[in-house]
Amino acid sequence: MPIAYITRRERFSAAHRLYRDDFTEQENFEYFGNCSHSNWHGHNFELFVTVKGEINPKLGFVVNLKTISKLIKDLVVDKLDHKNINIDVEFMRGKIASTENLAVAIWGELEIPFKELGADLHCVKILETENNSVEYFGDR
Ligand code: NI
Repeated sequence: MPIAYITRRERFSAAHRLYRDDFTEQENFEYFGNCSHSNWHGHNFELFVTVKGEINPKLGFVVNLKTISKLIKDLVVDKLDHKNINIDVEFMRGKIASTENLAVAIWGELEIPFKELGADLHCVKILETENNSVEYFGDR
C-alpha cells in the first residue's frame, strides 16, 4: 500500500517569556534577549502537523483532514490560543516556553491519538515568526 505524508496547518496566538528563575535579569537577557522581557510578549504562531500513513484504498486518503484538524484543535490549539504559554498551558508547565520545547510537548499530546487513528506522527513544525521555525521529528 502506498504511504503518504499529509500536513495540516493550524494557527494560534499566544504570549510567552523565555527565562530561568535561577538567572538574574541580566543573565536572562544575555541568554534569551528580548524574549526574556518580564512583561511577556506574543507571537502569531503557525503549527504544521505532518502524519504518515497508508493511503486507504477504499477512501483514497490516509486520515480525513477534518478529523486531523479537530484533533489538533481539541488537544493543542484550543489550549494555546490567546493563552500565556508560561502560565496557562498544562503541557508546558515547568518547562522553558521555547518553541523547541513547545514542539516536543505538542508531539507528546498528539502521538498516541494519531496512532489510534491509524497514522504515525511524522513532524511537528512551528513557525514562531516568518524567519524562525522549529521542526521536531520525535527522538528517533
Ligand atoms: Ni518570543
